[in-house]
Amino acid sequence: MIIACGARTRALVFVLLTSTLLLVIALCHKRGGRLEPLQRPTGPPRPGNGPQPSIRPAPDNATNTSGKQWSSVWSRVPCMGPRGFNIDEANNDTLSESIINGLEYPRPFVGSHEAVGLSQTWMTAAARYGPYGWGDDQMEKKAPWNEVDWAKLQNQCIHSNAHGFHDATMIRPFGRRFRMREPGEEIKSPVIEPQAADYVPRTAIVLRAWEGYNYIAKDLANLRATVAETALRFGAEYTVYILVDVKDTGRNIFANDENYRRAIEELVPREFWGMAILFDETLLKSWYPNIKTHGATYQIMQPLQLFAHFYPEFDFHWQLELDVRFTGHAGRYLTALSDFARKQPRKQAIERSTWYYMPEFHGGYSDLLGAVNASLEGRGGLGWGMRIQDFEPAGPKPPVKDPLADNFEWGVGEEADLIAFTPCAYMPSLKHWVWRNWQQGLKAGTKTPGWMCQPAMGRASRTLLLAVHHAQAVQGIAMHSEATLSSFALWHGLKLVVPPHPIYQDPQWPRSKMNELFNGAGAVEAHRTQGMEGMAYGDAIYRQADYEYIATSASFWYTSDFPNRIYDAWLGRGGSQGGDSSSLEVPYVLWKSRDGEVYAPNMILHPVKTNQNRPLDSSGDPPWLVIAGVAVSLLGLSAAGLWWWKRRSWGRYSAVRTEEVGK
Ligand SMILES: *[C@@H]1O[C@H](CO)[C@@H](O)[C@H](O)[C@H]1NC(C)=O
Ligand SMILES: *[C@@H]1O[C@H](CO)[C@@H](O)[C@H](O)[C@H]1NC(C)=O
Ligand SMILES: *[C@@H]1O[C@H](CO)[C@@H](O)[C@H](O)[C@H]1NC(C)=O
Ligand SMILES: *[C@@H]1O[C@H](CO)[C@@H](O)[C@H](O)[C@H]1NC(C)=O
Repeated sequence: MIIACGARTRALVFVLLTSTLLLVIALCHKRGGRLEPLQRPTGPPRPGNGPQPSIRPAPDNATNTSGKQWSSVWSRVPCMGPRGFNIDEANNDTLSESIINGLEYPRPFVGSHEAVGLSQTWMTAAARYGPYGWGDDQMEKKAPWNEVDWAKLQNQCIHSNAHGFHDATMIRPFGRRFRMREPGEEIKSPVIEPQAADYVPRTAIVLRAWEGYNYIAKDLANLRATVAETALRFGAEYTVYILVDVKDTGRNIFANDENYRRAIEELVPREFWGMAILFDETLLKSWYPNIKTHGATYQIMQPLQLFAHFYPEFDFHWQLELDVRFTGHAGRYLTALSDFARKQPRKQAIERSTWYYMPEFHGGYSDLLGAVNASLEGRGGLGWGMRIQDFEPAGPKPPVKDPLADNFEWGVGEEADLIAFTPCAYMPSLKHWVWRNWQQGLKAGTKTPGWMCQPAMGRASRTLLLAVHHAQAVQGIAMHSEATLSSFALWHGLKLVVPPHPIYQDPQWPRSKMNELFNGAGAVEAHRTQGMEGMAYGDAIYRQADYEYIATSASFWYTSDFPNRIYDAWLGRGGSQGGDSSSLEVPYVLWKSRDGEVYAPNMILHPVKTNQNRPLDSSGDPPWLVIAGVAVSLLGLSAAGLWWWKRRSWGRYSAVRTEEVGK
């Protein structure tokens, strides 16, 4: 039959066969060596054999400041919430977390609530977002949301707590502080400012938004919750801003106040107008003319660097994306992470930051510290006295020459300069990360020991951001977004900590296998690869492409779908979405009570896509297999086309020949 049909059909059949073959090869390659997930999830919340689980409100000791350097000099004044009540522990204007007795808490696959000091509490979506307007049609706790002004509430809070801050500068709604760099404008080298014991450090929470972001009810509830639980609940220790990437440079937002104001009014929901700050690419280009790109994928920190430069009242900056969700109290979660980080010593902090901490294999977190120390035989690690050729480190010098003389005391009680959300990796050894060689302006090029922590979120100190600002603006040194803060922290000898906060996985794989894949084979003490002593070195990180299917099952991973599944199941019942999902199965981390209420444990979900909201830029690796498949198919197609064309001309040629011969 094939023989009987025309050349065109034959070519088509040929192409189809080739593509099928390629697809099969690609699929086999993907399946090859794939791990089998566990059939029955381990660690779902299960009532014990005793009486039915009992649910009671958890005590709110969120703002317990004892143990902090400034605890004796400041007493927090409660702040007013959106409904005109004070937000403090005696009031129910804020959300309520629950403690459930008689119910096992789900066990994360990495990290630990206990180690980080996170409460093992539960929340329903109605308790979580109800006070913030989610499902307002069904809830009684209404507030006139269109009249709420979150910048004003924050300012009242800053004002009444001003006695605690070294600089109580308030939010100036529509006030444009960003401006273009002036010709010849000098930029100072970063200097480390000692952490004074007599004032409360101020922390900005910078939420990253962009022109075109479609704010739906769930986004609004999330934004309100974030402001209420951080800025208002913590007496203005936190201040929340929305940093908007204005894509249309034609808006000319820096030309005059009117353009700037109009853009805010058009791009940001009304209740948050006052806390919006705008930037566009022309601003980034003006400050960093020698950096080859200013897009978010490569340089997501540039606007934050400028924020640190123009908003000197802040000591620290959490950068969070809009697709982050806290299933518990946002302020308590962030505070637990920074409290954990403050308690960490500086020695070997770089090495510890590579570990996916799993209590069942590592014991307590201090046991992990001891094991890392053993593999380093007590030496200081990569960060101890680190120097690169390009600049003098801004960080403090070790207090003793011999690291053995420091019994993990240096840095304890000091704020971290960088807090990352997931463990870091040593760039020279990364095999698959596509941007491992992306850098510019470094004297030693890719031989400079870069440090990478995905995703590009976390908390950075002003010192660290100004160091990057200076390097980019003056020296033209840059790293990729996910390696910027971590590499500069390493090079400047600044304190970097990755708190082992809980992350869940679905589907789940055998834990010992996960330990091997994320941390590398062998005991922690035995990690002695030259140049990487004390570091985790797992294939899931260093050969990421082969294990993408495992990474994408985590409750916190930029390409994972698990966060969406948790979020949808959690919000499915009783919300503004309507519908009753009480008969549906919920992901194993959630617990459905007898009356169908769905409770979530205390965790961060990322990414949760509320709408058709694209991320700022896809920060994932390109799908190489698909690209290769398409390329090979195209090659096949052209080969087939060429073959067909040749045959056709050959056919014509022979026809001509026949005619000629027949003449
Ligand atoms: C407050 O924190 C300190 C130390 O971090 C702890 O000892 C104390 O029990 C806490 N108080 C409350 C009420 O939680
Ligand atoms: C809870 O809030 C209501 C108003 O919404 C108030 O009447 C009540 O007294 C509050 N309860 C407590 C314990 O603060
Ligand atoms: C709050 O305080 C109680 C009593 O001191 C303690 O048992 C509990 O662990 C604390 N919760 C948090 C989240 O710190
Ligand atoms: C770290 O290692 C050194 C050298 O082996 C040892 O003397 C010291 O006690 C260790 N410290 C800890 C906390 O494990």
